Amino acid sequence: MKIIITGSLGNISQPLTAILVKQGHTVTVVSSNPEKKTAIEKSGAIPAIGSISDVNFLTHTFKDADAVYAMIPLSFTEPDLGDYLRRMAQNYAQALKEAGTKQIVVMSGWAADLVKAENVEHLFDDLDASITIMRPGSFYTNFYQSIDLIKGRGLLGKFLTLRYSGLWSLLTGKMGLLMGNYGGDDRVVFVSPADIADAVAQELVLLTKGKTIRYVGSEEMTCNEAAKIIGTAIGKPWLKWVLLSDKEMLQGLKMAKLPEELAGALVEMQAAMHSGKTLENFHKSQPKMGKVKLADFAQEFAAVYHKK
Ligand SMILES: NC(=O)c1ccc[n+]([C@@H]2O[C@H](COP(=O)([O-])OP(=O)(O)OC[C@H]3O[C@@H](n4cnc5c(N)ncnc54)[C@H](OP(=O)(O)O)[C@@H]3O)[C@@H](O)[C@H]2O)c1
Repeated sequence: MKIIITGSLGNISQPLTAILVKQGHTVTVVSSNPEKKTAIEKSGAIPAIGSISDVNFLTHTFKDADAVYAMIPLSFTEPDLGDYLRRMAQNYAQALKEAGTKQIVVMSGWAADLVKAENVEHLFDDLDASITIMRPGSFYTNFYQSIDLIKGRGLLGKFLTLRYSGLWSLLTGKMGLLMGNYGGDDRVVFVSPADIADAVAQELVLLTKGKTIRYVGSEEMTCNEAAKIIGTAIGKPWLKWVLLSDKEMLQGLKMAKLPEELAGALVEMQAAMHSGKTLENFHKSQPKMGKVKLADFAQEFAAVYHKK
């Protein structure tokens, strides 16, 4: 099959490309960065350099494809997340329609139907094609964004550790934590991008009919259990995951200079996880869990953590 993968050689698209190339498909990988051309060719795929904000580029790239994986990269520079996601989803829908693509896999998220800004899945409803909407849980790779916090690095890291873990952390040298407006003993489904790639690959080559929603997860546990696994792998078995209120989280994101709309959407997303509604929806769909457990990822994480 001729398959188009968006998302460059990112967390999901890299293993996804490897699977599809190995299966003998002709794979084209979309990247916005001309410097990725060589790496894409080395992976056995054909590079298509351009932006998903360019409908003509997408239409041209999707022409004659048997299947397309459409993802919208999260942008921390777009001031209004909802507006950005809507525009990109409309671009995809228009290009897929004009190109006449019949097999489509759209990357969404497990909170998509609960968070106003994220709810763009319906924009693909009018396409005359088989569509699978992927709703994965929280990526293992998100832990990479917390490395400085876990290291209790800099004044901010020390201040936050002192504030939320108390003076004993400074006295014992046990600095560092994870935090968010979901956390503590909230139960969450974590997921490996490699397991998502497996699921996306299955959906791309499966000739289904109509619209399907597929939840994807690798392991369910509390946030503090996750912190213990990550902490143990990096020699900080006391690591805990502090649960902030929505208000505290919003203040933190504003201090980090995130645009107000974007900060609000991120808080809403995490609040949906804290409320347990995302988990409830996940359980209702009863998906089979993937193969990669958090303890496996924790080893990869530890290697990156110690290098930083
Ligand atoms: N993190 C989570 O917990 C979570 C949970 C549920 C759903 N999701 C969803 O999963 C997706 C993220 O997947 P991922 O982690 O595999 O992505 P990723 O690793 O962040 O990779 C996305 C790649 O897209 C490329 N890109 C950025 N802007 C572009 C543009 N304008 N045009 C074309 N390409 C562009 C970039 O590569 P180049 O520089 O090469 O262009 C980027 O590396 C998002 O849709 C997110 O909403 C995430």
